[in-house]
Amino acid sequence: MARDISTIGVIGLGTMGAGIAEVFARNGFSVIGVEQNDEGVERGRAHLQHSTDRAVKREKLTTDEQAELLGRITLTSEMKDLAEADIVVEAVVESLAIKKAIFGELDGIVSPDAILATNTSSLSVTEISTANSKPGRVIGVHFFNPAPVQNLVEVIRTVVTEPQVLEDVQGVLARLGKSPVVCGDKAGFIANTLLFGYLNHAVSMYENKYATREDIDAAMRFGCGYPMGPLALLDLIGLDTAYEILDTMYKQGRDRLHAPAPILKQYVTAGLLGRKSGRGFYTYEAPDSPVVV
Ligand code: 3HC
Repeated sequence: MARDISTIGVIGLGTMGAGIAEVFARNGFSVIGVEQNDEGVERGRAHLQHSTDRAVKREKLTTDEQAELLGRITLTSEMKDLAEADIVVEAVVESLAIKKAIFGELDGIVSPDAILATNTSSLSVTEISTANSKPGRVIGVHFFNPAPVQNLVEVIRTVVTEPQVLEDVQGVLARLGKSPVVCGDKAGFIANTLLFGYLNHAVSMYENKYATREDIDAAMRFGCGYPMGPLALLDLIGLDTAYEILDTMYKQGRDRLHAPAPILKQYVTAGLLGRKSGRGFYTYEAPDSPVVV
């Protein structure tokens, strides 16, 4: 029987987690957002405030609607506050060990019926699911950045995901106005498998000084109609996230297209993570400001 779903837990309130929390709250769900400490909670709160302020400025939300939306989100640093969640969406860093620890811990917190979803972009959903005592309720829901804007959500079913769990998740995503696509559990799923070979190739071109960053990006925007060029998109995704995705896909598939371009690792090591750190391939005044240098 279909579940009655009204409360969503979101673990991790970074770029993706905060965006996912906003999407659910915008569509009338109650959201419990969890971060690991008070600092994380405040960072998540700032993300949500900033993003909804932007919607108010663009007259997409009134200030009353903004207050209602934010009022539907409770932020906490305690995992145990997820007890009431009907679905938990985990959106922490791409670390298998951390994700498995979370899925194990959730056993003792949520109801036996709750659905457990991971927003992983390249790790094995099957492997994450083994950390929970009920792997059949574990599923992948992979949102795209910026989550409030991009309609696609990849839904990843493992060989043991229960059909009702898949159906319930598809129903919830439809209530968000998202367009789900369903796929099996292979690193990169559909979109990242296709996208990241292209992005990695653009980094190599830049690294080899074949063309400037502006010309590489302009070629794809004005020649192919992409909304952003590959290097600007990598800055949006986060170079650390991009590196992890490429590295995981390369290790699983051994496709040379996915062997991370060396400069990507150097940027990450140097703390140049893209928009979120103020500098990546381009330099930014604020996390989502236009390019200044
Ligand atoms: N948060 C919330 N809303 C945002 C936003 C953000 N970070 N950035 C832009 N928006 C909204 C704006 O408010 C605006 O909304 P409106 O039309 O309702 O007023 C709309 O998006 C368009 O924004 P702008 O006019 O400021 O700018 P653009 O038209 O240049 O669009 C963009 C910005 C939506 C980021 C667009 O350039 C785009 O779609 N880029 C490609 C993004 C992409 O490919 N994402 C996928 C990355 S891969 C991934 O996420 C997988 C993961 O595993 C890594």
